[in-house]
Amino acid sequence: MSKRVLTTESGAPVADNQNSASAGVGGPLLLQDQHLLEKLARFNRERIPERVVHARGSGAYGHFTVTDDVSDLTSAAFLSTVGKRTELFTRFSTVADNLGGADAVRDPRGFAVKFYTEEGNYDLVGNNTPVFFIKDPLKFPDFIHSQKRDPFTGKQEPDNVWDFWAHAPEATHQVTWLMGDRGIPASYRHMNGYGSHTYQWTNAAGDAFFVKYHFKTNQGIRSLSAEQGQELAGKDANSHQTDLLQAIERGVHPSWTLYVQVMPAAEADGYRFNPFDLTKVWPHADYPLRRVGRLVLDRNPDNVFAEVEQAAFSPNNFVPGIGPSPDKMLQGRLFAYADAHRYRLGVNHTQLAVNAPRATTADNYGRDGLMAANAQPRGEKNYEPNSYGGPAETGTPLSAPLAVHGHTGTHEAPAHSKDDDFFQAGELYRLMSEEERARLVANIAGGLSQVSREDVIEKNLAHFHAADPEYGKRVEAAVRALREG
Ligand code: HEM
Repeated sequence: MSKRVLTTESGAPVADNQNSASAGVGGPLLLQDQHLLEKLARFNRERIPERVVHARGSGAYGHFTVTDDVSDLTSAAFLSTVGKRTELFTRFSTVADNLGGADAVRDPRGFAVKFYTEEGNYDLVGNNTPVFFIKDPLKFPDFIHSQKRDPFTGKQEPDNVWDFWAHAPEATHQVTWLMGDRGIPASYRHMNGYGSHTYQWTNAAGDAFFVKYHFKTNQGIRSLSAEQGQELAGKDANSHQTDLLQAIERGVHPSWTLYVQVMPAAEADGYRFNPFDLTKVWPHADYPLRRVGRLVLDRNPDNVFAEVEQAAFSPNNFVPGIGPSPDKMLQGRLFAYADAHRYRLGVNHTQLAVNAPRATTADNYGRDGLMAANAQPRGEKNYEPNSYGGPAETGTPLSAPLAVHGHTGTHEAPAHSKDDDFFQAGELYRLMSEEERARLVANIAGGLSQVSREDVIEKNLAHFHAADPEYGKRVEAAVRALREG
């Protein structure tokens, strides 16, 4: 094998990579030392802004295979026939901590999938929880501020975490979920993924359905207790990353089975829960799971920065046959992600290999900008319409239209007959075994008892009482015992 030559960025050979050029043997360094200047300057620029949330994550490539016919529900080409296979990239993440945080913490996990379909990339950017803490995107920056590091103390503060929840009764369902047994997954392989929001599917005849996605892990659910999580996070901050990387390197390919809950569009208005409220689930007795296919992860990225740190998922990347619902949180997210990518990665992030379409190409009149790598062929027009055979619109809507009515204004989400902030949190509590309830109560009390203000504790206790009287009583007793003990 011929010896590889070390070169500068411009391709010129480097003579010495151990000693800087100096004026004489012991003298100061020379401005003409291009290699030293370039090496230091480039090193200074290695980091980019981390994601404002979900900063810490792990990614892998894989594929999705359709196992069941869903062509009566959606015209999406990648779901059109049983056996059809689509390449994909997945990134899992924790939410609150920074890039250097630990994996084994109590926190929701991100579950983001980019399907490289022949009709463009479809991004399903979900979590390992079927619900969320809030239902209006206007609250998201405040919510995240309360969960991340405090600007004065520089660390997460129970006072902030619980003060936000004291003012957000709609969070009680998700708080119950997070403080329960699934709150600390043992690894990314051992948790489910949920689209969480309601999405719209449209079939070839134009019939509209509302769907919720469920990826069920085929590895089985495995979680850590609060004590196990604390110990592991202290011993090995990278436990999730190591687990995923090593499993795939060993040829043990994790997989998930995708199901959807399906609601015919006409049933949405009359359903007992607002189907577009992200703090609510649809009980399976109302809308059972229908199997769609299987997601397998079988290849680790070669370079974590290029492929995981620079991966950009946007809930707004839909394909024909799949579209948004009027869920206000989802509507906010349709804006937030691509905007974050333009800030974090630049306007041409869609040209990076991990983000670019693979089974089709992007063919439009967007041009130029910082770091534009894709050059259009000579003579290609940069305006539309044109007389030169450039790409043109199809005229076919991607999804069915949604009916709207009423006046503009800052409205609360409409409440359906069974909607309140607490009923489903209580249902989740009542589903738990005695042992699960005991652990849930201990986990909540462990956090809530650290709060400095009595009024904030009281407001949170009121939420648990409202969900279920026994739940409230037990949390209250556990908090009191810890504060007095
Ligand atoms: C209005 C509410 C929300 C807003 C404004 C929001 C905003 C953001 C932003 C700005 C990022 C960073 C994107 C980047 O820099 O690449 C992000 C990441 C992420 N968000 Fe959200 N988010 C919201 C709610 C949610 C919900 C409800 C879910 C799950 C159902 C979710 C799942 C994720 C995931 C998985 C990532 C990481 C994606 C990746 O791996 O690159 N977010 N979010």
